Amino acid sequence: MSGHVAAIIAAAGSGVRFGADIPKALIQLGNQTLVEHAVAAISPAVDRVIVTAPAAYLNQFQSLLGDSVTVVVGGQTRSESVRAGLAAISSATQYVLIHDAARALASTDLTKRVLSALEKGEVAVIPGLPQIDTIKSVDANGYVTTTPNRAELRNIQTPQGFEFSTLKKAHETKGESTDDAALVESAGFKVLVIDGEERALKITTPADLANAYNFLGANNEFLTGVGVDSHAFEAGRELWLGCISWPGEVGVAGHSDGDVAAHAICDALFAATGTGDLGSNFGVDRPEYAGASGAKLLAETLSIITNAGFKISNVSVQVIGNRPKLSGRRKEAIAALSAALNGAPVSLLATTTDGLGLTGEGKGIAAIASALVFKV
Ligand code: CTP
Ligand code: MG
Repeated sequence: MSGHVAAIIAAAGSGVRFGADIPKALIQLGNQTLVEHAVAAISPAVDRVIVTAPAAYLNQFQSLLGDSVTVVVGGQTRSESVRAGLAAISSATQYVLIHDAARALASTDLTKRVLSALEKGEVAVIPGLPQIDTIKSVDANGYVTTTPNRAELRNIQTPQGFEFSTLKKAHETKGESTDDAALVESAGFKVLVIDGEERALKITTPADLANAYNFLGANNEFLTGVGVDSHAFEAGRELWLGCISWPGEVGVAGHSDGDVAAHAICDALFAATGTGDLGSNFGVDRPEYAGASGAKLLAETLSIITNAGFKISNVSVQVIGNRPKLSGRRKEAIAALSAALNGAPVSLLATTTDGLGLTGEGKGIAAIASALVFKV
């Protein structure tokens, strides 16, 4: 396979400083892993993408990234990983970009700007941001030796772009450096720094991952919704509340099992996601939901909002009524509601209304719920 622009994404590190039990490139950021973000942003600007992976994860990376990406085993150091990537590139390649999966959110625009400087005749182009803190060099005992002029310093990022033969030559020395430009500089070539971007931040620690969320834009949007339900007691029916049954208690009238807590949560989720309401999704014109359990409706609701691109942050529900007394079985009901929502965090409260209204007079039972969701 050829193509005149290739990108190598270094993703073979283990992420020691991040401290997860999986390689850092497989950490999730919003809806994708770091390496998927990096591949998605660089792909539109290049002809070919090569990813270096830890040996034990080669197959996992390949199935995650698909056949259009070439995955090769990385080396012991970043420079060795880059050389493993270079070995997989055809000699017909004109430009090569070296990128870190750890800079998952570097944009397609940045990649294009690096390439356009190469196309204008530069042999090495790297993005950088102005240095904000004052930098000092220190000796082994911690004493300052020099203070470089801050105005002349840049924080260097990736993707770094090179004329292919130049980078190959620079790597022939088998040198070690934390970036490729350093090897190219040592080989005597001119390296141009262009404007970098904040979103190309390097994710090294969990705190960096939290910062990266700020750049996900709409993907990071939280939405909230409220839902209310009430049913009148009806003798002779079994009571279901909070996805558990309450033997010995009077049940309620209704098309379904009348679980007001489950129904209020469904409506709060529909409200937060703008996907209709209980009536429009499971109303009386849908006979398949006659007698449906609260757990079934919650599971269906979860699948509707998941298909619409949302995830649950948490839901909270308050039951209003004189009975049943929830306190003894609160944990059980929370576990059942949460299980119906595939493990989403649920909280459950109860109150009476001082003898007032439908619930206070003991005629029925009600619930009010709120849901917080986010777009993935
Ligand atoms: N990298 C690589 N091969 C290595 C070491 C690092 O391909 N032998 C990659 C990493 O996967 C990362 C990039 O180089 O995308 C920059 O390295 P760094 O941020 O230091 O990542 P890690 O080496 O994984 O992290 P740590 O140093 O904390 O272990
Ligand atoms: Mg490292």
